[in-house]
Order: sequence, then structure tokens, then C-alpha cells
Amino acid sequence: MLRQALLVASRSGGARKVVETAPFTGDLVRRFIAGETIDDAARVTSDLTSDGLLVSLDVLGEDTHDKGHAEANVQNYVELLERLGAAGLGARAEVSLKLSAVGQTFGEDLALENARRVCVAASSAGTTVTLDMEEHTTVDSTLRIVHELRREYPDVGAVVQSYLRRAEEHCAELAYEGSRVRLCKGAYAAPAPIAFTDKEDIDKSYVRCMKVLMAGKGYPMLATHDPRLIDIAGALSVLDERDANTFEYQMLYGVRPQEQRRLAAHGAQVRVYVAYGREWYQYVMRRLAERPGNLRFFMRALVGR
Ligand code: FDA
Repeated sequence: MLRQALLVASRSGGARKVVETAPFTGDLVRRFIAGETIDDAARVTSDLTSDGLLVSLDVLGEDTHDKGHAEANVQNYVELLERLGAAGLGARAEVSLKLSAVGQTFGEDLALENARRVCVAASSAGTTVTLDMEEHTTVDSTLRIVHELRREYPDVGAVVQSYLRRAEEHCAELAYEGSRVRLCKGAYAAPAPIAFTDKEDIDKSYVRCMKVLMAGKGYPMLATHDPRLIDIAGALSVLDERDANTFEYQMLYGVRPQEQRRLAAHGAQVRVYVAYGREWYQYVMRRLAERPGNLRFFMRALVGR
């Protein structure tokens, strides 16, 4: 119930205006976001990579209904990728891109064109792009764009959300040689005919998807903080005789940082998803929906106590 309310609030423009203009001082926001600027992102990336972790950077700013804003988002990604390339971080840090940030609302052509520009910049920086998966209404369009981009950039990452009833089918289609696939549970609100809504069903679907990806020929990117699922991933890697460099774990910046380092210390590849920028509202609201216990800290930060 609270999760649904938080996800609805995440889409409310009014709430966003009020909350986002509050000073960027709340501990909770700082916990999940690297900072507001490209310098903050570069600093956090450098710290994480020095600790043996990989990074995927997300420039905040999604769900845009303004073409100028979409263009600014593309420019921000290009600038970030130039910075990563110049710092020689391309081998350890990639970017995650939301198509809603670069014009998907205006149609598939604009989103494809803009995503391609980000792929060109990533390729020059010696790194890759993963297309985040968003609302269920955009899944087919996003997968079409992944397939189109992969003609020129085969290393473009796709995302499957295990809460979707079609998730296993998507995994089977994507588990081919060279295909990078992030598996996550799904962070948006989706109706019952399309998605599992019960946590147990979502987790079981995650396991079925993981089995398909780990037994397949692609490169699974297992995005979860769930200890049970991480254990199962480890068992599957043994069963499927996968070397540590043929798949990776992924976690969010600010969530279970010790576990990130523990896995890396045991030889696993671990990538941390690092978001930065001023437009943090929707991202942070989804983090609250995942763990409503965080809400208390957020409210305290908002009212300045
Ligand atoms: P679950 O929510 O069951 O949490 C398991 C445990 O992890 C909790 O008990 C708690 O200990 C810890 N935890 C999880 N979330 C927390 C939080 N916010 N604060 C504190 N502790 C927390 N979604 C999507 O729809 N599209 C996408 O493209 C992506 N991309 C993505 C990339 C990466 C790297 C990650 C890790 C996640 C995503 N997600 C996503 C989000 C994903 O769908 C999901 O909402 C979150 O990962 C939470 O699910 P868990 O698998 O962690 O399990």
C-alpha cells in the first residue's frame, strides 16, 4: 500500500517541485546520490573503482516532456563520457541511460537517435551503455531500441524486470552470445495482468530468469541486494561452470556497500549503479518505495531536523 503511494507520488509533478527545490542536504538523498555535479560523479567513481568495484553512472533527469530538456540530457551524457574517457575510466565505468530522459515521450525515432549519440560518445570513451527499463508501457519500445542499437553497438546492455510476467520469455530471447543483460526485480508500479505483485512471486520469477541467463551464452548482470538471490546466483555460477569474469553482480550506490566489497574481495565482479544530478526526486522516491523504512529519515531531512 505504502509502496504504491510512494510510486504514485514519484510521478507527481507538484510534489516533485516542492521536494526537489529543498536544499540538497538530507542524509537520505546524500546516501543514494553521488552529488549534483559531474565532479561529484567523477570523485565517487574514482573512489569505487579504487576499491575494486565497477560503476554504471546515471545522469538524473527522466520522464521529460520537453525536447530542449531531452537535448540537455544527451549533452550531459556526452560531457560525462568525455570526462570518463579523459580520466581513463572507460574500462571500469559505463553509463546507464533512461530513454524517457532523451525523448521517448516524443516517439521511438527521437529516443533511438539520441541514444545512438550517447553510444557514439561511449564508444569513443572505450565504454558501454545499458538502457534502463522503465514503466511497463515502454518495455516493447525499449527492447526494439536495444535491438536496433546492437546492430552497430553489440555491447549495449538490456534490462529485464522479473516482476513482468513475460520476464522469462525476454531472458530466453536475450541469452545469446555477447548479449549483456541486467536482471532486476522492477521498480515501477505495474498492474496485475502484466506483472506479479506478490513479493514471493517476483522473487521466484527472478530465480527462473537467473537460471535462463546463467545457463545461456550471454553476459548476465544480476542487479539485486537480496541475500537469498545472491546466494542462488553463486550456486548457479558453480552449476553452470561460469568463471567470475563471465557475469557480474550489480547494486545501487548507498545500498549494502559492505556486501558490495565482500563479493568483490571474493573475486566477483561487482558494479555499483551511481546516480548524480539535480533531478533526484523520482529516483529517490523509488528507493523509498523499495524500503519504506527509509521514509522516516527522508521526512526528517525535508523538514530540516
Ligand atoms: P528487495 O527490494 O527485496 O531488497 C532486498 C534487500 O536489499 C532488502 O531487504 C534491503 O536489505 C536491501 N534494499 C533493497 N533496496 C533498498 C533500499 N532502497 N534502501 C535500503 N535497502 C535496500 N529497476 C527497474 O525497474 N529498472 C532498471 O533499469 C533498474 N536498474 C537497476 C540497476 C541496479 C544496479 C539495481 C541494483 C537495481 C535496479 N533497479 C531497476 C531497481 C530494482 O528493480 C529493485 O527495485 C531494487 O533493486 C530493489 O530490489 P532488490 O532486488 O534489491 O530486492
